[in-house]
Order: sequence, then C-alpha cells, then structure tokens
Amino acid sequence: MAPAGAKVFKIPLIGLGTWALRGRDCARLVEQAIRIGYRHIDTAQMYDNEREVGEGVRASGKRNEVMVTTKIQPTLLAPRDLERSVKESLAKLRLDHIDLLLIHWPNPRIPLAETLGAMAKLKHEGFTQQIGVSNFTVALLDEANELSSEPLICDQVECHPYLDQDKVIGACRRHHMAVVAYSPIARGQAKGDELLTRIGKAHGKSAAQVCLRWLTQQGIAVIPRTSRVERLEENFSILDFDLADDEMKHIAGLARRGGRIVDWTWSPKWD
Ligand SMILES: NC(=O)c1ccc[n+]([C@@H]2O[C@H](COP(=O)([O-])OP(=O)(O)OC[C@H]3O[C@@H](n4cnc5c(N)ncnc54)[C@H](OP(=O)(O)O)[C@@H]3O)[C@@H](O)[C@H]2O)c1
Repeated sequence: MAPAGAKVFKIPLIGLGTWALRGRDCARLVEQAIRIGYRHIDTAQMYDNEREVGEGVRASGKRNEVMVTTKIQPTLLAPRDLERSVKESLAKLRLDHIDLLLIHWPNPRIPLAETLGAMAKLKHEGFTQQIGVSNFTVALLDEANELSSEPLICDQVECHPYLDQDKVIGACRRHHMAVVAYSPIARGQAKGDELLTRIGKAHGKSAAQVCLRWLTQQGIAVIPRTSRVERLEENFSILDFDLADDEMKHIAGLARRGGRIVDWTWSPKWD
C-alpha cells in the first residue's frame, strides 16, 4: 500500500515492449496494440525507435489514455546530458511529455544523486509525469529512495519463471514501488516449456499466456514484445483466467541458477 496521502499512479498490468522493433512495423504494431487495449508502451533511447513509437501512439488517436515510458541511456546520466537527451527523446517521440522516465541501467561513474536531481527537475518542469529506475538491485533501490526528492514509481527488471527475483520484488514492495517485468516470456523460451504448456491446456491458454498470468497474478506489470499482430491479442488476453495456488507454486519452481537472459556483466563498464 502507498503511504497515506500519497498520490497513486497506476501502471497498466499489460504493456508492449518494443526493443528490436523498427521502422514502419514498429509504428504499426504500437498503433495496433493500442487499438487492442494496451495502455503502456515501453521504449528507450537505446532502442533507436522512439520516432516510430511516437508515430504509432499518435496514429492510435488515444495519446491521452496511453502511458509512454522511455529510458535514459546509462552514458547520459550526468545532469546536462540527461536533460538534453530527454528533450531529444521528446522531439523524436513528438509528444509534449513522457509519462514515465527511467534510468535504463545504473552507471557507477555518475553520482546517482545528480541523476535523480536532474530527473526530479524534469518532472517539476512537466517534461515527464513520473520517474523510476530499471535494473536496480536491492542495495541500489535503498540508495535511490534515500536520495530521491520525488517518488520512484517502479523498478523495471528481468522477471519470468526461470529467474528468482523475490529479493528485488520484496525491496520494491518495501519502497512502495511497482515491479515491471521485462523479458516476461523469457525471450520466447516460455513457449516451449512443458509445465507451462500443460497448465495452459487445462485453462485453454498457451504457455506464453500462462507465463504472463503468473506474473500479473502477483501484481507484477508485464511488457511482452512481439513482432506479430496475432500475438498482440494473445499476450493481452491473460486476465480472464486465474492460476490455482499449486499451479503458481509449480511455476515458481522453474527458477534456476543461470536463469537470467539479459547479460549484466557489462553494466559496470560504462564510461
Ligand atoms: N530495461 C531493460 O534493461 C530491458 C531489457 C530487456 C527488455 N526490456 C523491455 O522489455 C520488453 C520485453 O522483453 P524482451 O523483448 O527482451 O523479451 P520477451 O518479451 O520476453 O520475448 C520476446 C520474444 O518472444 C516472442 N513472443 C512474443 N509473444 C509470444 C507468444 N505469445 N508466444 C511465443 N513467442 C512469443 C517474440 O517473437 P515474435 O516477435 O516472433 O512474436 C520475441 O522473440 C522489451 O521489448 C523492452 O521493451 C527492457
């Protein structure tokens, strides 16, 4: 629960990830997703598709209903770079504000207090509605919450059944932050999973849908990516069934050492 008196900002449970989506296909998928009912679109400066994401959002005619997230490149976290880059993001998106602005990855070479100060300033000036972080560990979440003058509303982290993220999820709850799961279908690995397929059969759902439901049933927001229009529907149709407690537990049992997909080893090497 949020602290008494705090304003509540809701992150839609299902959003669209756009990493690796490019050009007209990207704009078309974003527009189609919003038509289907998606209300959260996730992009990043690093994805080099903010222009197309903005096109898709505007073409949907539903800009005011959609939460657009972008993420600041870790090399651009010093205040001046950050401010300039966010204004460039807005120019590419052709939107007058970002809904949620995140630090994409921590960069130990740039003082976190300065980055958070610059983000708070952009929030006060109306360039972004909310701010948050991505790929922050428990220790970094504690530090960031101590330093930030503005609430940090989420940590966007890799989250799927093959990776035990209980500690970071616990830290987010302690700080009243939402968890947004990236790579929520383990980059497609969930599709061929025997257990998820078996559970899916019992509910008339696919393995990918079971995987996404396992996360959303824990109150974790998901941002699956697909390049196929038909899968937009599939990934969105996950809130009309519930997994039983024993199914939830069995799926949690898929967590394994080395279950992480996105490589963290390069993250401290930012210049
Ligand atoms: N903050 C960060 O550092 C960070 C890191 C990674 C990702 N992200 C964000 O999170 C988003 C999602 O993560 P992700 O792209 O890594 O992986 P993902 O969403 O877990 O998986 C995407 C892959 O799964 C396939 N897929 C999608 N729906 C499917 C379905 N219903 N059945 C079977 N296969 C399906 C897609 O193939 P098709 O295209 O053929 O459908 C694609 O190959 C990204 O796009 C990005 O926005 C953030």
